[in-house]
Amino acid sequence: MQKILFYSASLVLAALIVPINLTLGEERESIPLLKPQIDTGRPLMQVLKDRSSSRSFSTEKLPVQMLSNLLWAAVGINRPDAGKRTAPSARNWQEIDVYVAMADGLYLYDAKNNVLKPVLSGDIRSMTGKQDFVKDAPVNLIYVADFSKMGDAANDDKVLYSAADTGFISQNVYLFCASEGLATVVRGSIDREALAKTMKLRADQKIILSQTIGYPKK
Ligand SMILES: Cc1cc2nc3c(=O)[nH]c(=O)nc-3n(C[C@H](O)[C@H](O)[C@H](O)COP(=O)(O)O)c2cc1C
Repeated sequence: MQKILFYSASLVLAALIVPINLTLGEERESIPLLKPQIDTGRPLMQVLKDRSSSRSFSTEKLPVQMLSNLLWAAVGINRPDAGKRTAPSARNWQEIDVYVAMADGLYLYDAKNNVLKPVLSGDIRSMTGKQDFVKDAPVNLIYVADFSKMGDAANDDKVLYSAADTGFISQNVYLFCASEGLATVVRGSIDREALAKTMKLRADQKIILSQTIGYPKK
C-alpha cells in the first residue's frame, strides 16, 4: 500500500513538474528590448577582415543592450515608414522568424514592437544543434521560415528563397559579432524534427538554420 501511494505521489509530482519546465509562454512577460545603438560599430572593411566562425563560447550572458543591437542588426526595421528590414527578403515577404533560445526560455523576436515575445519557458538550448557548445552559449538564434507568408509561390521557390533570406540575416549577425568582438557560428547540424516538435511549430514553419552567439571563451 505504502509503495502504491509512493508511486502515485511520484506520478502526480512528475505530471506537475514536466509541463512547468516546458510550457507555452503566453502567461510570461515579454522582454522589452532597448533602442538599437546605430552610432556604434567598427568600419565595415575591418569587420569583413575579421568575420569568422568560432565554436568556443563563454557562458556569460549578453546584456540587453547588446542583445537589442544584435537582433536589430540581424533583421530589425531600418526604414520604419516602409517597415523594411536590415536584411532583404524575396518579394519583401519577411518570412524568416528569428527565435531566441536562452537559459530562461525561448522567445520570438518581434521587430515591430522591439520586444522578445515568450514562446516556451524551458531552456531548449541543447536542442538547437548537435554540437556540445550550443547548450552553454548564452544565445542560440533559430531561423524559421514561415511558408504561410510566401503567398502562392511554388514549394521549390519557398525552399530556395527562404534559405537565401536566412543567409542574409545570418551574415548580418556575423558582421555584428565581428564588429563587437563576439563569437558566432551558423549551424545546419540540427535535429530539425525534434526541435520543431519542441518548439510546437506548424507544418508550414520550417527550421532553416541556427546560429550561436556569445562572448569568446577566455
Ligand atoms: C549553411 C551553413 C551551415 C553550416 N553548418 C555548420 C554546423 O552545423 N556546424 C558548424 O560548426 N559550422 C557550420 N557552418 C559554419 C562553416 O563550417 C564555416 O562557415 C566554414 O567552415 C568557413 O569558416 P568561416 O565561417 O570561419 O569562414 C555552416 C555554415 C553554413 C554557411
